[in-house]
Amino acid sequence: MRISLLALAATAIAVASAAPAPVKRAAKSNVVLGYWVPWGDVPVASLDMTKYTHINYGFGVTAKRNALATDIFFDRYYDGNNIKALVKRGNEYGVPILMSIGGWTGSQTLSTIAADAGLRKTFINNALVFVRNNTLPDYADTPDGWNMHGIDLDWEYPGRPGAICNTVSPNDSANYLVLLRELRAQLDLEFPNDRKLLTAAVRVQPFDGTDGKPLADVSAFATYFDWVSIMAYDIMGSWSATTGPNAPFNNGPVGKADQYSFTQGINAWKDGGFPLSKIVVGTAFYGRSVTTTVNMNTQPVSMYVNKTNVTPKGGPADRNDINFFCNEGSVYSGMWKWKEIRGSILTGGVTTPTTGWTRYWDDATQTPWLYGTGANTFISYDDPQSLTIKVNYAKTAGVRGVMLWDMSYDYNNELINVLQNIHCTSNCPVVTTVPTPTATATTTTKAPITTTTTTTSSGPVTTTPSGICGGVAAWNSATAYATTTKVTYAGHLFTNSWWTQNETPDASNTWGVWKDGGAC
Ligand SMILES: *[C@@H]1O[C@H](CO)[C@@H](O)[C@H](O)[C@H]1NC(C)=O
Ligand SMILES: *[C@@H]1O[C@H](CO)[C@@H](O)[C@H](O)[C@H]1NC(C)=O
Ligand SMILES: *[C@@H]1O[C@H](CO)[C@@H](O)[C@H](O)[C@H]1NC(C)=O
Repeated sequence: MRISLLALAATAIAVASAAPAPVKRAAKSNVVLGYWVPWGDVPVASLDMTKYTHINYGFGVTAKRNALATDIFFDRYYDGNNIKALVKRGNEYGVPILMSIGGWTGSQTLSTIAADAGLRKTFINNALVFVRNNTLPDYADTPDGWNMHGIDLDWEYPGRPGAICNTVSPNDSANYLVLLRELRAQLDLEFPNDRKLLTAAVRVQPFDGTDGKPLADVSAFATYFDWVSIMAYDIMGSWSATTGPNAPFNNGPVGKADQYSFTQGINAWKDGGFPLSKIVVGTAFYGRSVTTTVNMNTQPVSMYVNKTNVTPKGGPADRNDINFFCNEGSVYSGMWKWKEIRGSILTGGVTTPTTGWTRYWDDATQTPWLYGTGANTFISYDDPQSLTIKVNYAKTAGVRGVMLWDMSYDYNNELINVLQNIHCTSNCPVVTTVPTPTATATTTTKAPITTTTTTTSSGPVTTTPSGICGGVAAWNSATAYATTTKVTYAGHLFTNSWWTQNETPDASNTWGVWKDGGAC
């Protein structure tokens, strides 16, 4: 497409006046990495670029139905425009854009490529097309370079089965290391003055060795990767024996829960010799659902109960289409995006479900879950409270940052705003208590928070406060309050000392989150 010089100039002026001051990469040493996918249907122009330090474009796909094993498929005519737009906005805001190669369905031939010197060479040349500068004129449909800032490898998984179409070999991890050495060398050779990033998405355990077990020492991989981002989610779901957490913070009970989690993943890579500065930890902006065979509201409440083997339809957008690249059958994912959970279930606020649903908090895994009586639906997911705990831990542990899957799942920035805490250096949000239900607080910490309790106890005060309370909103149990927010409650002005939700302001509790600022 040709654009007149006049039109180009007008575009440049519009961008310059509309865009806020760019936040440059150097200003933020911690990573907030988002995955952007074209099917997420979030226009690049609508992204708040200030909330991300890096963005991975998903995905370039290796597949057996491509002409060659080394081909990296993506739709140039549709996705290409998005890549150009992402790179342009990334440059404006100092946010590097990386091409992610692989993914669940796109890792089919990576084992084949890594095992062969000739295929590695061709694949590396194909991968570098994404980071090379385009030297063709504007109107060329297929540029010879996409000007991206790095390559993310999302091989699911070296030495371990992933999608059923993948080739897997016990030599994968050893071959991966060779591929990385050659890829890093080629990047440095072609871009001596413009260092390109090389990263990977990885499991909660290090890559598998020839014995099919995680390698004890993966420190050699850290030589080539700028960081790995740990996919600390999809831990339990429709494939598990019982219900359980999708993205636990800590491991659930031995014998009930699969022993993987956010903290376990960090420790596994650290113990494998990865420096903390090269560990980024992934968070899920979605939940996973299954159909239970029991009523989970029955006491004693447990997060681990029997379920059917049929994955239910998840959120409204869940589909059971057969995947184009790898036919794994016509099955639903059971996934609920956060925006779908908020739009259909937690309609009264981040902890306030609609009729027929109950929200529970699990102390062991520090995650919320929902149970819907209508179709015996269990959903394990993350919310601002569980993400605050994860981000606080990530900061304390000293890892490089956090990753999120994916950028189209959020609701009013509720979750991405929590991830910004990774940049916080003083007076940072903390979660000191978990919400205990008002109705049955004496029996168990896992008892339900019901719709009726919450709505009756937190209805907004309709009278307009004056004096020091002028213009200040009434406290609401469903609202998540950032540090030092002012609210009114019982005729007093209160200010919170740290992040809080569902903790009633109480002037008599001088150790509480809410500080009494006096009568209105
Ligand atoms: C890409 O090439 C063009 C034309 O040679 C040049 O003006 C531009 O600065 C280059 N961009 C990068 C990122 O190297
Ligand atoms: C793994 O590598 C070894 C050593 O190069 C080789 O002998 C063996 O055939 C390879 N195995 C597979 C399955 O490719
Ligand atoms: C749950 O399933 C297991 C295995 O099928 C079975 O032994 C057990 O009795 C079931 N428990 C309940 C409460 O149905």
